[in-house]
Amino acid sequence: MPSRVPPPGLVHRSGTTGSSVIREALALTNRPDVLSFAGGLPASELLDIEGLRTAYDHALTEHPLRALQYSVTDGDPRLRELLADRLTQRGLSVPPDRLVITTGAQQALALLATALLKPGDTVAVEEPTYLAALQCFGYAGARVISVRTDDDGIDIDALAHVVERDRPRLLYLVPDFQNPTGRTLALARREALARLAETKGFWIIEDDPYGELRFHGARLPWVTAQEGAHDRSVLVGSLSKILAPGLRLGWICAPPALRQACVLAKQAADLHSSTVDQAAAAHYLGTHDIDARLDHARALYRDRCAAMLTALPGALPLGSTWSRPDGGMFLWAKLPEGHDTGALLPRAVDHGVAYVPGAPFFAGPPDPTTLRLSFASHGLQDIEEGMRRLGKAFT
Ligand SMILES: Cc1ncc(COP(=O)(O)O)c(C=O)c1O
Repeated sequence: MPSRVPPPGLVHRSGTTGSSVIREALALTNRPDVLSFAGGLPASELLDIEGLRTAYDHALTEHPLRALQYSVTDGDPRLRELLADRLTQRGLSVPPDRLVITTGAQQALALLATALLKPGDTVAVEEPTYLAALQCFGYAGARVISVRTDDDGIDIDALAHVVERDRPRLLYLVPDFQNPTGRTLALARREALARLAETKGFWIIEDDPYGELRFHGARLPWVTAQEGAHDRSVLVGSLSKILAPGLRLGWICAPPALRQACVLAKQAADLHSSTVDQAAAAHYLGTHDIDARLDHARALYRDRCAAMLTALPGALPLGSTWSRPDGGMFLWAKLPEGHDTGALLPRAVDHGVAYVPGAPFFAGPPDPTTLRLSFASHGLQDIEEGMRRLGKAFT
C-alpha cells in the first residue's frame, strides 16, 4: 500500500484575521432578543420587492435570451448606459464604455487589486477604513499603510508624508459617509488629493457606495472629477445601498487601459456578472423614479441618524466622542481611554444590543476605544431602546 502524501497547504495571504468580525456580529442579529447595530444592512422597508419582481418578470418575459444566456464581460450595455447617464448627471461626464459592471463593489475592489498590485506593493488607506477592502488588499499580498484622518477625512499632509516615505502604488478611500466613520472628505482636500496624485504619480480608488445617501448639506464633487485626476482615479459604485445588496451589482469607472485590465481580470474571475440580475436592474432603473425613492431613503436615514445622535449621550460613557454624519449608514464613536469595545461586546450582547468594535477597521495599530454603529436598519423606537441597552451595558 503506497503511503499517502498530503496535498500542499493553503495559502494564507490575508493580512487580517481570517473570519470577519462583522459577519460574526451579524450572526447575532438572528437572535431575536438582540438589537444589532453592527451590520451594514440597508433598511428592509426600502427594498422594493414588488418593483424588483416586476423587473425580473420583464427581463425573463421580454428578453429571455439576454437574461439567461452567457454575455459580454464588461456588462449589460443598457445597464452601463443608464449608470453612465446617472454619473454624468451627478458631475462625472463618462460614456458607457468607461464602465465595467461587477458583482458588487466588492468584486470591483478585487479586480482593481488584481490589475494594479503585485505582492509587496504598498497601498495607502484611511485610518480606519472599510474592513473588506483591507482583506482584499491583504489577499493581493500588499503592504497596507494607514494614513491619519480627522473629521474632514484623510489628512493631506500626513498622506503627502506617506507618499514620500512609502511610495504607495495606490490610495484607497471612501470620501462620502465613510465606512466605518460616516465622515466626508472636505472639498479642499479633494482638490489637494487630486493634485498630489498628479504630481507624485499614484492611483486613487474612490469607493462610493454611500454617496447617494446624503441627508444634510450639498453634494461634493468626486475626487475622480477633479482636474488632474482623470487618468489616475477610479470610481467604484454599487446598487447595494440604493436598490438591493442581494442583486450583487456594482461598477468600475476607470481610464481605458485600466478598465481593459479589469475586464480581463473579470473574465478570469467569473466571465460576467449575472445576466438576469443585470437585465432586471436595467429595467428597474429605466422605469422607476430612483430619485424619488432615494429622497425617501434619505429622509428615513436622516431621522434614524438624528435619533441615534440624540440618544448617544445617555448611552456612551462620559467623555466619549462621536461623528455626526451628513449621510450614509454609520457613525463612529470613541470611548474614553481605558475602554476596550472588543472586550465590552459580549456584555453588550448580554444586554441585548450589538455594535462592531473598531479594531478590525485599522490597518495599523488599532484603537480599542472605538466602535461603529449603523443607524440604518432599525426604526426609531428600536434605536432608542438599543441605545438604552447600550447605556446599561457600558455602566
Ligand atoms: C465602503 C464599501 N465598499 C464596498 C462595499 C461592498 O459593496 P457591494 O455590496 O456593492 O459589494 C461596502 C459594503 O458595505 C462598503 O461599505
